[in-house]
Amino acid sequence: MTSTRDLNARARQQWDEKASFWDALHGFDGNLFHKTLVGPSAERLLAVKPGERVLDVACGNGQMARRLAQLGAAVVATDFSAALIEKAKARTPDSPIDYRVVDATDESALLALGTASFDAVVCNMALQDIADIDPLFRAVKRLLRPGGRFVFTTTHPCFNLASTVFGQERLDLDGQLVYQMSLKQVEYLTPTTREGAGAPGEPAPHLYFHRPLHVLLNAAFAAGLTLDGLEEPAFPEGTVGGSRLSWAEYTQFPPVLAARLR
Ligand SMILES: C[S@@+](CC[C@H](N)C(=O)[O-])C[C@H]1O[C@@H](n2cnc3c(N)ncnc32)[C@H](O)[C@@H]1O
Repeated sequence: MTSTRDLNARARQQWDEKASFWDALHGFDGNLFHKTLVGPSAERLLAVKPGERVLDVACGNGQMARRLAQLGAAVVATDFSAALIEKAKARTPDSPIDYRVVDATDESALLALGTASFDAVVCNMALQDIADIDPLFRAVKRLLRPGGRFVFTTTHPCFNLASTVFGQERLDLDGQLVYQMSLKQVEYLTPTTREGAGAPGEPAPHLYFHRPLHVLLNAAFAAGLTLDGLEEPAFPEGTVGGSRLSWAEYTQFPPVLAARLR
């Protein structure tokens, strides 16, 4: 069996290797997925006020960090991929965003960012990519000021797994041709680690760490965090997706789970 440490090292190499692709995919302010689902939910749950100190964990190319800075927050943004941090910095060389290379599985490295010093912590679309989330949840609890909030968005563990099968069927319903979009799940309850293709067009697969809801949320509860906000955003009818059988067509299924904890 491969150790968590080895899996984390492999994941880091994979993200370093796809940094250029990821940076181009998201551009300055995010792709359709972020603009329609991730960003609005995260912003609603965070409700950031100007002057607040906010930590963005696993920031990728810095899209959310830039948005938080626009909203007036003082932002520290971290990722374990030095290549992605370089991409993020290059997008706004003169910005006051404090970018750091920090591994989210390293509790003491996270705590070194300053205990009880953040009004909010956000982690967008990354928990499913992080080999071990317990150190992060424990650290978040201590990084937050009293009453501070932690918002995460993640691939929805019930609907959006690397193993999800995307279907479309044509039915004759009382003389009307109807097209129904369906998802087939072949696994859920068992936590799994597997390589997934990711977004259409990704240059190489990367590791996904699937955790069913009870594993995901119990990790947060065990760290002393309490859930007080939840969203399950899905694409609205009529959204034009960029590929065949894209999430934009599955308007009854939320590909993203967004949660706020304190
Ligand atoms: C799907 S991307 C999301 C990036 C960004 N938050 C966004 O929403 O565009 C997942 C991110 O998690 C980061 N990541 C994965 N494991 C990590 C770890 N152990 N520590 C820090 N970052 C990690 C990757 O480098 C990548 O930037």
